[in-house]
Amino acid sequence: MAELFNRPRRLRRNKIIRDMAAEARINPDGLIQPYFVCDGTGIKNEIESMPGIYRESLDSLLTSIAEDHKLGIRRIMLFGVPDEKDAGASKALGEDAVAVKAVKTLKDRYGEELFVSADVCLCAYTDSGHCGLVTGDKVDNDKTLPVLGEMALWLARAGCDCLGPSDMMDGRVGWIRENLEHNGFVNTLIMAYSAKYASSYYGPFRDACDSAPGKGDRRGYQMDYRNRREASTELSLDIDEGADIVMVKPALAYLDIISDFSRQTDLPVAAYNVSGEYTMVKLLARENIVDERMMVMENLTAITRAGADIILTYHLRDILKGGWLE
Ligand code: PBG
Ligand code: ZN
Repeated sequence: MAELFNRPRRLRRNKIIRDMAAEARINPDGLIQPYFVCDGTGIKNEIESMPGIYRESLDSLLTSIAEDHKLGIRRIMLFGVPDEKDAGASKALGEDAVAVKAVKTLKDRYGEELFVSADVCLCAYTDSGHCGLVTGDKVDNDKTLPVLGEMALWLARAGCDCLGPSDMMDGRVGWIRENLEHNGFVNTLIMAYSAKYASSYYGPFRDACDSAPGKGDRRGYQMDYRNRREASTELSLDIDEGADIVMVKPALAYLDIISDFSRQTDLPVAAYNVSGEYTMVKLLARENIVDERMMVMENLTAITRAGADIILTYHLRDILKGGWLE
């Protein structure tokens, strides 16, 4: 018989030992459920490319969130889907902007029992479908900043706990932070999409928001997936500009970036388990090719193991419903 001093399998012998020795565990308090809220009333439409996820009007959203709150969902990210789009993204601004109204209603109702974050980006509001304002055939960085700043302020006034700038314009975190400071919103968090890559994994989301760019793509502002060191540049800029939380997006094909961030900053690191990642699992599970619970747990644990403290995931409702974390 072989004489082996080191037998890593000893720690894998049974569940009670494996559970003791497990290095990474999903933090239930770090999970955020995204929602899509649209103008109108009585609307609740399942997004065709995202089984189990809906685009709904505020009245319906309130019912959904009331149920989800009972399930244990305490942290959400809101995306607004307006009924009209224009060149200036005007529907993103004002008291009646769809996301602003939703934030206000939710915060009035739940107060500190619900952590409400909201997307800060123009792509759902521009007729071009781009994340910024367009001049000629260019997405105009500096012309976009004031609009993002204004959008952020409207959300902050509505009581938003946390702003998620996902637009990837240079300087937007600093611009938003300055707007917040000058207007007395010193406690509004900024969760910066610091390393947001141009990705095929956003496909289903663009269905949800009807926000695919009509012309061109987002490679002029979102990051190139060939780049790793560049993510660190984006990270330090966002930290200098006043981010509270830094995010990597997408998550699963970018675990190296999550790992880099967790070493390079002491701020909380978030990862966005995006729509395409969600739908891949859903479709495989629907065909009975994989076990949904097992695959979701593996994915979210891997994101956690890589170094994410916070995960935005469309799976959260199913996780709580199924008691998958217990
Ligand atoms: C908009 C935005 C996108 C996502 C979050 N905010 C899409 C995009 O940049 O095209 C993607 C989220 C997902 O796929 O779940 N800036
Ligand atoms: Zn956008």
